Amino acid sequence: MVKVNRRQFIILSTASAVTASVASIAFAQNNRNPFKTQALSPKLYKSAGGLLKLDLETSSRPISLGGKRAYLLGYNGQVPAPRLEAQAGDTVRIRFTNNLTQPTNLHYHGLHVTPVGNADNAFLDIPPKESLTYEFTIPKNHPSGTFWYHPHRHGYVAEQVFAGLAGLFIIRGELDEILEIQAAKEEFLVLQDFALDRNGSIQSPNHMDMMMGREGELLTVNGQIKPTFSIASGGLLRLRFLNASPSRFYRLALENHPFYLIATDGGALAEPVELKELLLAPGERAEMLVRGEREPKQYRLLNLPYNRGGMEMMEDEMGMMGGGSSHMMGGKSQVNPQILATLTYQGSTSTLPLPKQLIPVETLPEPKTVRRLELSMEEEMTPGTGMSFTFNGKAFDPNRINTQVKLNTVEDWELVNVDPDRMDHPFHLHVNPFQVISRNGEPEPYRAWKDTILVRGGETVRIRIPFRDFSGKTVYHCHVLDHEDLGMMGIVNIRA
Ligand code: C2O
Ligand code: CU
Repeated sequence: MVKVNRRQFIILSTASAVTASVASIAFAQNNRNPFKTQALSPKLYKSAGGLLKLDLETSSRPISLGGKRAYLLGYNGQVPAPRLEAQAGDTVRIRFTNNLTQPTNLHYHGLHVTPVGNADNAFLDIPPKESLTYEFTIPKNHPSGTFWYHPHRHGYVAEQVFAGLAGLFIIRGELDEILEIQAAKEEFLVLQDFALDRNGSIQSPNHMDMMMGREGELLTVNGQIKPTFSIASGGLLRLRFLNASPSRFYRLALENHPFYLIATDGGALAEPVELKELLLAPGERAEMLVRGEREPKQYRLLNLPYNRGGMEMMEDEMGMMGGGSSHMMGGKSQVNPQILATLTYQGSTSTLPLPKQLIPVETLPEPKTVRRLELSMEEEMTPGTGMSFTFNGKAFDPNRINTQVKLNTVEDWELVNVDPDRMDHPFHLHVNPFQVISRNGEPEPYRAWKDTILVRGGETVRIRIPFRDFSGKTVYHCHVLDHEDLGMMGIVNIRA
């Protein structure tokens, strides 16, 4: 047994050697059931001394998924990708190598960092076999929260995310320091769905899959099928959810246990909000506390049925095709709850209280400008697909600036879903988080920071965006990633 002093220990930890071995012990204990194969040891990279530094490589790998071999795309061979953790004020330096056969890049979803240069720049293109070093600084006042990273090369986003490319990017800070939250057991739940053929290859989408947004029947949590989580009687569990699926919505409920929502996309709420269930659209995150206050039995974490629209269009198309494939209908016509994971009770503790207060959410000033953005799908003569997804009637054009805004102003955007098929479209804006003001004129029940917001068929959602700290071009788009690849993306230029 080699002894290390405290200083060496810290140095080792920064190289993630220690954290990685701790993670693999946890995994070994979890792996009693041989059919719940988990070949991945979840890896964690933490910042140290103000720097988060790592090498990240993406390539195609055979990965064990639900006891079967699956040909997925991984970051450092992992699905989901390694979790990154940093703090406000840290510098992030990622040496990224593309070993795919397609171009790709990285997007840091939800982070308030610069969109220009080798940072959260959605316009970067990293061809196969090339490398790029990303470097940016997280502002000193950046909120703590659950963010994530995934590829963002226009035209390839849905395909690459559906192949597994997604990982958590955690900012630690004031929310983590609240005593009641520190006392809670923390679990991360990355939700991904996959569609595999008999050989373990990813099924290619048909026309309807792309129109609706591709979904798979294999539901995974942290790359595992129906994993088990535990809570102590009397204890608190902090569940940090990420919907990393390209199109699938999750309507989450935990049997007999209410959720206490403590944070949304952009960080903490002012106080916990009790919920029976929570709808998580693609790209969204939510943090929930659960109390270990029930009989010590097993409880299921469920994905309840949800209709995200477009059914009429689907039926038309099915009629045209004379039946349609069963793989296509499975997810979209879901009538029964699906089991995502199991919660068990293990041990007990003196009863832990819920926090009363979290972090105040600022009141934004009245907007200088109000804009209207219409989200729609249009039948078009686009070669190959015959459809395009648009903002204000225009499909994405890398050479067009759709929206000009001024730095240090606050704007209201009215997001109006005029889709003739009444499909849901989750709207995402890069770099600058926002607050939802109203939905169809009804004020939101509580104030929260968001970066991805569901706009249902026929709905108008009004959001308030402060454009702060960073000038330059960035994008907004639908987070049903097929819709983004098919044109539902626009460029916003923030001028100093
Ligand atoms: Cu999570 Cu522009 O995307
Ligand atoms: Cu959409």
